[in-house]
Amino acid sequence: MERILVIGCSGQIGSELTLALRKIHGNENVFATDIKQPPADILESGPFHVLDVLDYNNLLHFAVRFKITQVYNLAAVLSGNAEKIPMQAWEINMKALMNTLELARDSDAKKLFWPSSIAVFGPTTPRFNTPQLTVMEPNTVYGISKLAGERWGEYYQKRYGIDFRSVRYPGLISYKTEAGGGTTDYAVEIYYEAIRNKKYECFLREDSALPMMFMDDAIAATIKLMNANSSKFSLRSSYNVGGMSFTPKDVAAAIKKHIPEFEITYKPDFRQAIADSWPASIDDQVARKDWGLSDKFNLDSMTELMLTEITKKIG
Ligand code: SER
Repeated sequence: MERILVIGCSGQIGSELTLALRKIHGNENVFATDIKQPPADILESGPFHVLDVLDYNNLLHFAVRFKITQVYNLAAVLSGNAEKIPMQAWEINMKALMNTLELARDSDAKKLFWPSSIAVFGPTTPRFNTPQLTVMEPNTVYGISKLAGERWGEYYQKRYGIDFRSVRYPGLISYKTEAGGGTTDYAVEIYYEAIRNKKYECFLREDSALPMMFMDDAIAATIKLMNANSSKFSLRSSYNVGGMSFTPKDVAAAIKKHIPEFEITYKPDFRQAIADSWPASIDDQVARKDWGLSDKFNLDSMTELMLTEITKKIG
């Protein structure tokens, strides 16, 4: 029986992944932790503890006390925010990862999921259909920390036998918990603003194509990777996960099919340069072959669901 620690359960991914894991492993076996208060359904469905992943002694104590066998480490400062506080973001992102890698050496928590990102790529990477293995020269603090993290994960797997597993998430879109401080956040905000005000001012250009994925597909991919037989893995760093690719103009058109009066304007800010340095679309054949990655949602089906669910929530 697995005993699972989720670090960052109150964030955009954690608030959905924790509930999905509780369905599979039993509520009492999934320990939700964060330094922030989680949503009510996490508090009510199973254990929640305040835990700071940067405090190694507490982390180790926690894992030993609750006999943790698997960790999902979702704590990170996202791309936009990281550019405002480069050294702190580097410190937080790397320390959070290194603490869970060390935890895997010092305790029974030997299996670790850690999200990487399309931010590991940079302006010299082929922009369309970016391959798994290619030029990687990220020029953002967040991207540098994710690339370094992938290397460390693979190192701990090879050197110490830690079962490190990771995907390079594209922009994630969800209606439950809003993201904070990322470059792809516009693709979540736009739906909220469409319901609230029927208009949105976008911080990226209209033709700024980025890879994106609906949260349900991202959670399914994560769980599939964690349950897969690792003997089929052809790599132990981080897998490309493609999802879909669209521009702000494309999302606006998809929203207009449901809300014809919706209007979008464009006022690119510093995040435009970050978006320009990232791929427009991703080739994820290796993940499909190694562990059966698949996804269900496209822009239209996602838009329909986002608008319905956000209307229920705030409409
Ligand atoms: N969604 C993230 C960001 O924009 C990318 O991993 O920072």
